[in-house]
Amino acid sequence: MVRRARQPADRRWPEKDVIVNINPQEMKQLAAVQAQPRLDLYVGIHKALRALMADTLLAVGRMDSDDGLELAQTSQRVLALLDFCVAHLRHENAFVHTALEARAPGASELIAHEHEEHERHIAGLSALVGDLLKALPAQRADAALALYRQLALFIADNFQHMHVEETAHNAVLWSRYTDAELAAIHGALVASIPPEEMMFVLRWLVPFMNPAERRAMLADMQAHAPAPLFAAVLDSVRPHLTPREWDKLASGLGLA
Ligand SMILES: [Fe+2]
Repeated sequence: MVRRARQPADRRWPEKDVIVNINPQEMKQLAAVQAQPRLDLYVGIHKALRALMADTLLAVGRMDSDDGLELAQTSQRVLALLDFCVAHLRHENAFVHTALEARAPGASELIAHEHEEHERHIAGLSALVGDLLKALPAQRADAALALYRQLALFIADNFQHMHVEETAHNAVLWSRYTDAELAAIHGALVASIPPEEMMFVLRWLVPFMNPAERRAMLADMQAHAPAPLFAAVLDSVRPHLTPREWDKLASGLGLA
């Protein structure tokens, strides 16, 4: 779920990190000395979130709101996304923000405020799903479009938000923590996730990693998890990989 990242920021786009309470000099120094890849707590799970968000938005956009089964299934997918978003931001608050504040007080302030905004936005989206499910047949198309547009705005905001976390927050974490300490924080976070949530996470995490990230993560699981659990994870992700991706993974894990 974690990977090594070689440098902290892509500077092509305007950054929100200029208003994050982080010393800009510290970030410049960090970029200058960042010769060794560092442990990245964010990149894997954020790839999963981006994939899940995009997939869900596209499903709402193409939904036939006159098809009762499709309406129910797509609404359920939106609610599952919203549940996952709440769980994710609470994991970040409890483990990552706590770590940031312990060694760089104020560093998580902006993003913590955005997490509060996201919880409000999530409640609003959940209400829109309720409106859609209760709508009369003649109102369903409008209710579906309203949900689609608000979900798109929520996702757009989250894409910006995750970029700040992956650049500004990582810069602070990498300057104040060793990789061993970051691995311990990550281990504690993962240990707090209930099994059902973990299987959902893995379904979105593994397929949307690149082959090297996927192989590294599953090799670690292969070495440490019980064999039946590892087999169940492979079974759950295989349908979401192309045959070529699966062949690379199986070969990398010594299964081919
Ligand atoms: Fe976040």
